Amino acid sequence: MKIISRKAPLKALVSNAKREGAVIGLVPTMGALHEGHLSLIRTAVSNGDQVVVSIFVNPTQFNDPEDLERYPRNLEADLELLKDQQVDILFTPSVEEMYPEKDERTFDLSPLDSVMEGKFRPGHFNGVAQIVSKLFEAVEPTRAYFGQKDFQQLTIIRRLVKLMNQDIEIIGCPIIREPDGLAMSSRNQLLSPAERAAAPLIHQTLKRATAMKVDHTPGEIRSFVISRINAHPMMEVEYFEIVDDQQLNTIYEWNSTLNKIGCIAVQLNEVRLIDNIYFH
Ligand code: PAJ
Repeated sequence: MKIISRKAPLKALVSNAKREGAVIGLVPTMGALHEGHLSLIRTAVSNGDQVVVSIFVNPTQFNDPEDLERYPRNLEADLELLKDQQVDILFTPSVEEMYPEKDERTFDLSPLDSVMEGKFRPGHFNGVAQIVSKLFEAVEPTRAYFGQKDFQQLTIIRRLVKLMNQDIEIIGCPIIREPDGLAMSSRNQLLSPAERAAAPLIHQTLKRATAMKVDHTPGEIRSFVISRINAHPMMEVEYFEIVDDQQLNTIYEWNSTLNKIGCIAVQLNEVRLIDNIYFH
């Protein structure tokens, strides 16, 4: 695995590999790697890609400076995990390398960016679009891998490649969970033991909600999820919405042909966790 922190040598290496017939798969991350990230890498490897992983904590997608400061960073542990993976290039740029000047670009992501995460984290998805478009320009991958854990982000990235007219295949990968159901996340590292013990309630509640579909309306299920999680003294639901998985419009009735997904954000004391589940 080659570790590169500048764009120019990255571009040179990638275009060499392409000339020799390589298919390039990009896995963008913010580090503090876990099995969720590794599953994206393994999928890229199993597709036969030469794999480029990026680790960059992107400041423009943090709407809260404290959240940016507290975000876990541990390159040494990340390198240890990557050692056993078939990664060809690890790209670890500095903030100056990715943003030599202020990025003033705004992306037309509406209305996908005005609900759920977009509503509660203003500017977040524009920041995601800024960094992902820069990574796409630097690597020009054939395919790029994103987790369904960040379902709205995945939807927005699909829109972004259309918007930029880029020929990049976006591959959505399933959510990887801890044995107790908690969706893996870099932010889980910030949980105290008591908070970690409480956190599986989120997935448990979503699973229970899907079982209620036979005899409850989407509205009833929404109320159930919010009140069950809010009953926990450490937890507060920021949003829970059942939406269609293309346009992210609220679902009011089950008898539509659209695929329905319930997306949630929960504040667990100081740590913000997100998760989602399909209502098949
Ligand atoms: P980060 O949170 O590090 O996640 C990197 C990728 O790993 C994302 O595509 C995310 O959806 C995926 N991922 C995280 N946890 C997962 C899990 N439990 N199961 C499956 N996939 C999981 O998302 C970002 O970084 C950033 O916004 C980024 C796209 C890198 C832009 O800065």
